Amino acid sequence: MQKILVLDFGGQYNQLIARRVREQNIYAEIKPYNRITSAQIKDEGYSGIIFTGGPNSVYDPASPHYDSEILDLGIPILGICYGCQLIAYMANGKVSSAENSSEYGKTELNVFEGLLFDGVPKTSVCWMSHRDFISEPPEGFKVTANTANCPVAAMSDDKRKIYGVQFHPEVAHTEYGKNMLNNFLFNICGCTGDWRMDTFAANKISEYRERLGGKRVLCALSGGVDSSVAAVLLHKAVGDDLTCVFVDHGLLRKGEAESVERIFRDTFRMNLIRVDARERFLSKLSGVTEPEKKRKIIGEEFIRVFEEEAKKIGRVNYLVQGTIYPDVIESGLGDASTIKSHHNVGGLPSVVDFEEIIEPLRNLFKDEVCRVGLELGIPEELVWRQPFPGPGLAIRCIGNITAEKLELLREADAIFREEVQSSGLGREASQYFAVLTDTLSVGVMGDSRTYGRTVVLRSVTTDDFMTADWTRLPYEVLERASSRITNEVRGVTRVVYDVTSKPPATVEWE
Ligand code: XMP
Repeated sequence: MQKILVLDFGGQYNQLIARRVREQNIYAEIKPYNRITSAQIKDEGYSGIIFTGGPNSVYDPASPHYDSEILDLGIPILGICYGCQLIAYMANGKVSSAENSSEYGKTELNVFEGLLFDGVPKTSVCWMSHRDFISEPPEGFKVTANTANCPVAAMSDDKRKIYGVQFHPEVAHTEYGKNMLNNFLFNICGCTGDWRMDTFAANKISEYRERLGGKRVLCALSGGVDSSVAAVLLHKAVGDDLTCVFVDHGLLRKGEAESVERIFRDTFRMNLIRVDARERFLSKLSGVTEPEKKRKIIGEEFIRVFEEEAKKIGRVNYLVQGTIYPDVIESGLGDASTIKSHHNVGGLPSVVDFEEIIEPLRNLFKDEVCRVGLELGIPEELVWRQPFPGPGLAIRCIGNITAEKLELLREADAIFREEVQSSGLGREASQYFAVLTDTLSVGVMGDSRTYGRTVVLRSVTTDDFMTADWTRLPYEVLERASSRITNEVRGVTRVVYDVTSKPPATVEWE
């Protein structure tokens, strides 16, 4: 299988670059620049290398540098933004810094020539984001594009197949960015697009069947996409040797626990243990109002419940985890500050007696996991399910959590989701849900005064959930949701819509 290396110099678009490559059915992996040497790169047999951008200046001694031998490995290279400046620096060109030459945003690009620009018009729009610029290309490089403020917007050394662009072809704002990347991948690196999800699933199933068959395999199923796809894949490989444990903490959405049971036990006929831990979580959470404390309690209690179940099962050979590629990349770099402690099943290994962790999805992005899920026959409604946080409704039920509040929230949330779904907005609304506040307000119903709760409707539109915009939902959808919630859910007198983006807010309220 052909593969492209995305050599990460700290740019904000590293994952986007890898996804753009994979969209062309070419396998790409991201490696931090300081975790792989040029000798290792050579041994790995990459078809091409992309240097990412980065926030630094190449002359800053603290900035990421790389062994210049990489330029002579004979592997095609495309440097983007900082990556392009780094190539210039390594090959003895000149990088300069001047206040008036910085460019941010959409910029007109003039293309002169070159393989990278096959099929790209002479002038088009590109996305720039830089202060430093290349003032003199290195020897052997010719300038292949410029902009008003940037004399070397692109350069190439065709003999060594080394290319650099100052702008960001991976960003949708660069009109012909996709053409340029495709020219690099197919024409320059010679990739053919041999990375496909159907063969991925079939290969994994036969690999695991051979390697794990006859041994005991355990999986914690949350009902989310990642653990569901991992579980079904393993089930296809080892059948009844797999046991899935589903902890019902009582913080799921309306009908969700039943749907997990129906899909996995009845449709897929998997060995499923559903642990009813609703009371247990509720009593642990009683009186707790602080969001981080809620998250910690749920994470820890989840592990305790799972541990008890695992003990009943006894020693297992393998523990399956639904780790996906972004988790791997983020833990690899590990410098993001913690805004919320995300709860997932990462804490499980220490409490289960097992030999090895199996992570069938660790090289896949979310959309690829979904495609594998569909290949495996998992219903669309589960595969395209919007993300749902591990701590569940606990972080959407502001303040103290009680069974009554949860029930009220579940009903309001189900109505809102139903209305958005039936509005035909599709995936324009990436994630939408209700939040129950502790704010009471006065209302009127018939001739009587009411005094009840306030429900917040939240819907965000986003590609990656790192930043998100509030969805411009049609008024009719909001109106129907509001009227149904106040009519059908007793105890709610007021419905409001959250018009805050992320940042400054986060998607979830707690
Ligand atoms: P925030 O609120 O951080 O959410 O803007 C970003 C995305 O992450 C989801 N989220 C979580 N997912 N465990 C998860 O698995 C968690 O603890 C958690 N907290 C937030 C959130 O729903 C949104 O999609």
